[in-house]
Amino acid sequence: MIKFATGLALAVVLASSGASAQNVTELRVAKMKEQGAAMGALSKMAKGEEPYDAAKANQQAQVLATHAKSIPSWFPAGSKAGRAKDEIWSDSAKWQQVSAAFVTETTAFAQVAGTGKDPMAAGLGKVGQACGACHTPFRAPAQ
Ligand code: HEC
Repeated sequence: MIKFATGLALAVVLASSGASAQNVTELRVAKMKEQGAAMGALSKMAKGEEPYDAAKANQQAQVLATHAKSIPSWFPAGSKAGRAKDEIWSDSAKWQQVSAAFVTETTAFAQVAGTGKDPMAAGLGKVGQACGACHTPFRAPAQ
């Protein structure tokens, strides 16, 4: 009976830790997809595939700027999974520098995105580069 109870407790601990690691990965992938969607909507406006809408541009830029501030919290120690590379944790100084640069870039972008199509389009290019500046060293290729 004691043996059974211990086994059960261990199974519960394993199941719950497994579930939480999975939730962390699911959350960050969902948040990254929101960033991808925001970039897609802005890019359509920048290319003229959709009419420029200042309120919409501002709203999408706010999504990017808000998400940017929480990116580091989506990658807690021990949450390596998916396409997250080891370097996020083994080179945390660079990771923090790149994350901070992304906050700066998206904050600046949020200030111009709603002011006109041209400044939005110019800023969008820089934000896209900042996405890549993190993906190149820290995101593994899709399987
Ligand atoms: C500071 C680093 C960093 C920044 C900045 C960043 N990303 Fe990511 N992104 C990652 C990492 C790491 C992953 C892989 C996460 C995983 O698989 O667990 C990822 C994954 C993704 C994914 C793939 C989700 C999937 O389907 O698996 C998309 C889409 C994405 N990012 C879009 C963006 C866009 C768009 C931007 C810029 C607006 C951006 N990211 C900025 C680090 C970053």
